[in-house]
Amino acid sequence: MTTLTAAITSVSAYLPEYILTNKELESMVDTQDEWIQTRTGIKERRIFKGEGQGTSVMASEAVKSLCEKRGITPQDIDVIICATVTPDMLFPSTANLICHNVGAVNAFGFDMAAACSGFVYALETGTNFIKSGKYRYVVVVGADKMSSITNYQDRNNCILFGDAAAAVLLEPTEENGVQDSILKTDGSGQNLIYLKAGGSAYPATLATIAAKEHYFYQDGKSVFKFAVTKMADIAAEIMEKNSLAGDDIAYLVPHQANKRIIEATANRMNVAMDKVTMNIDKYGNTTAATIPLCLWEWEKKFKKGDNLILVAFGGGFTWGAIYLKWAYNS
Ligand code: UT7
Repeated sequence: MTTLTAAITSVSAYLPEYILTNKELESMVDTQDEWIQTRTGIKERRIFKGEGQGTSVMASEAVKSLCEKRGITPQDIDVIICATVTPDMLFPSTANLICHNVGAVNAFGFDMAAACSGFVYALETGTNFIKSGKYRYVVVVGADKMSSITNYQDRNNCILFGDAAAAVLLEPTEENGVQDSILKTDGSGQNLIYLKAGGSAYPATLATIAAKEHYFYQDGKSVFKFAVTKMADIAAEIMEKNSLAGDDIAYLVPHQANKRIIEATANRMNVAMDKVTMNIDKYGNTTAATIPLCLWEWEKKFKKGDNLILVAFGGGFTWGAIYLKWAYNS
């Protein structure tokens, strides 16, 4: 018996032009290129400089090229899900703005806030829209303008993040596509990685601005301990659940937060590093965009039927893994 699921049929991305190197960061805060590379694996990241231009602008570019690549028009899209923690505004949703910008007049859209796990959460959600049988073309876009919530005087955090958007198109399939998923949430991590003010608990005031509470905060060391265990655990869990050994995996596609976390996850899965997508050196941590950005960069290497494991960990805490079979040869 064949089962309906979602296949990724197109991948696209938008990368801002401006490159912020470790060298330039050395002139901004007390840091060293060598420290950043050794501790994180990052050499440079992209920054979206457009005045008054939010995440939706980057995401719209990715969605437009996604449609062109697949040979469909934005009017064909049924749903747009945007994973982001840097929406243009609290409301309307960024997905709403993307629909408008690209002319997706027949689609509805909404945002998904799951920080660095946003893309895997949104991919699971989009897959279920496809599985319902009601929708033909579902777009999942991961996009974050992290520079808009980064304090460039805080050396602990400003070295980590970059801006980018990347999107995938989901279509119904009875062959290959998304096979399984495991997603988790643990709110006990809420004060270890968060943006405190500007929501309903601490609305913006002069005091919250003076206290720099509109910037992203992370207790890196504590988050590292959770991330390194949880990402490896969930990857091992989805492999076991689907009777997959390290050799069965064509590519591990991990969230790009830290090279050391990625290596630990690959090690636990028994997957060799040449089968791991890693571009943190060029883009840093782009939050919801990291995984689709990797899919986009590695697309030409993927073969139809390849087993891919996507795995992420992020603020919340949130984490998750998706097992999919790649659906096409480029
Ligand atoms: O994507 C969402 C989930 N996030 C993650 O998964 C990130 C998890 N955390 C991490 O990746 C790492 O914890 C960091 C990269 C953020 C930090 O690496 P670390 O090895 O945990 O360093 P640390 O915070 O323990 O800092 C070590 C030292 C400290 O100095 P002392 O106290 O040992 O004297 C820091 O003050 O390095 C110092 N330091 C820096 N030095 C140069 C911190 N930031 C910097 C910097 N440049 N930018």
